[in-house]
Amino acid sequence: MTHPDLVPAYRAHLAEITARTARALAACGYDGLVLQAGEPPGWFRDDQGYAYKAHADFRLWLPLLDAPGSLLQIVPGRRPRLVFFVADDFWYQPAQLPEAWWPAEFDVVTVHSRAAAFAALQGSLARSAYIGDPLPELLAAGIGAINPEHLLHRLDYARAVKTPYEIDCLRVANRIAMRGHAAAASAFASGASEFEIHQEFCRACEQREQELPYNAIVAVNEAAAVLHYQILRRNRPSVSRSLLLDAGASFAGYGSDITRTSVAKTAGVGASGAARDEFAALVDGLEHAQQALCARVKPGVDWRDVHAAAVRAIATLLVEAGILRCSVDEAVDGDAARLFFPHGIGHLLGLMVHDVGGFMADEAGERIAKPPRDPALRLTRVLQPGYVVTMEPGLYFIDALLKPARTQPVGRSIDWQRVERLAPFGGIRIEDNLAVTASGCENLTRGIHHG
Ligand code: GLY
Ligand code: MN
Ligand code: MN
Repeated sequence: MTHPDLVPAYRAHLAEITARTARALAACGYDGLVLQAGEPPGWFRDDQGYAYKAHADFRLWLPLLDAPGSLLQIVPGRRPRLVFFVADDFWYQPAQLPEAWWPAEFDVVTVHSRAAAFAALQGSLARSAYIGDPLPELLAAGIGAINPEHLLHRLDYARAVKTPYEIDCLRVANRIAMRGHAAAASAFASGASEFEIHQEFCRACEQREQELPYNAIVAVNEAAAVLHYQILRRNRPSVSRSLLLDAGASFAGYGSDITRTSVAKTAGVGASGAARDEFAALVDGLEHAQQALCARVKPGVDWRDVHAAAVRAIATLLVEAGILRCSVDEAVDGDAARLFFPHGIGHLLGLMVHDVGGFMADEAGERIAKPPRDPALRLTRVLQPGYVVTMEPGLYFIDALLKPARTQPVGRSIDWQRVERLAPFGGIRIEDNLAVTASGCENLTRGIHHG
């Protein structure tokens, strides 16, 4: 899909978020809204800075990622005004408005200084709200409210329902990332290092590291047991047993969040063929469970129930594989299953990888509690058409959790020899992105529909 295909959907998206924003502003007593694109954060006592990406509240309106210092003014009934900051600079390439379909939807004013940016906003700002970094300039600009919570609640709550344009963008972000996953899997099969696998992923996605929606997790062998493993080892493994790759790609400011677990074709040195086959069967079992969980996703489903079903499915797999020697009920009701699956089953996805509003009961900011035994769950809402969620069951051999369990009553229900045999493979996670439809869901990662 190329950008121009998105034009009608983008126009409808703008109309929808304009209407949402107008309702939220009216309910909160504001006449307008100023959204800040953000500033690149600098390194301490240095003239370099961290990778910059425009704030998500700003990116909701336009696919402009490189816009440091820019502002967007929304006043219901008027065209949105983009105050585009272009630095007078010959050391760096100043920001440029792309030749694209969307600038025509805005009144664009170009400015060359921060002060000029605020001066270019229209009308009195005393009854306007501002969302962004609390800059010193705001005082002089006379902005009415900075990041007012009641407005943020309304906007965040509404953002869970993606427009068809946003789902188009996420579909493309999935397609790009899957090219990367295929290339990464072949690199792993040929014995590549984590660093090389990461390079292959970026190359196939045609995205540099800072463009990815989050730091890819490239975990070979035991490292797959580290949930957010952040190292990219340069050395090729002496034996490649398993790869857990959690990596997404970006498109127009939206990111995919996909995990695949690969198993080496042969066991190699240090892992018996039986252990390799046992681990491969677990990967197949988890994938099967993951697909069954995906098929449950439809409007009206309470995400906490999906999580509970995931815990049960993983407990069943652990019992059937002989890792747990207790009943499924005991594994679910006690601690055993959660020792192997200590995170949530998924989260909202969109402009941010863990998108806003996951716990909101309503637009007033009331929250839906997490299940007390599942503190890592990031989504507690009841699904509606338009939500985009991840489905990411996992099964890991995490020493930090398992070691203390050895001396606790739960340890008696674990086959420790089996755990030791499988621990060199690290763990498994299978993660797809799902868009909730009127009757079920679309799996954006696999291109299949349920319901
Ligand atoms: N990549 C982070 C997550 O899966 O939530
Ligand atoms: Mn992920
Ligand atoms: Mn995720």
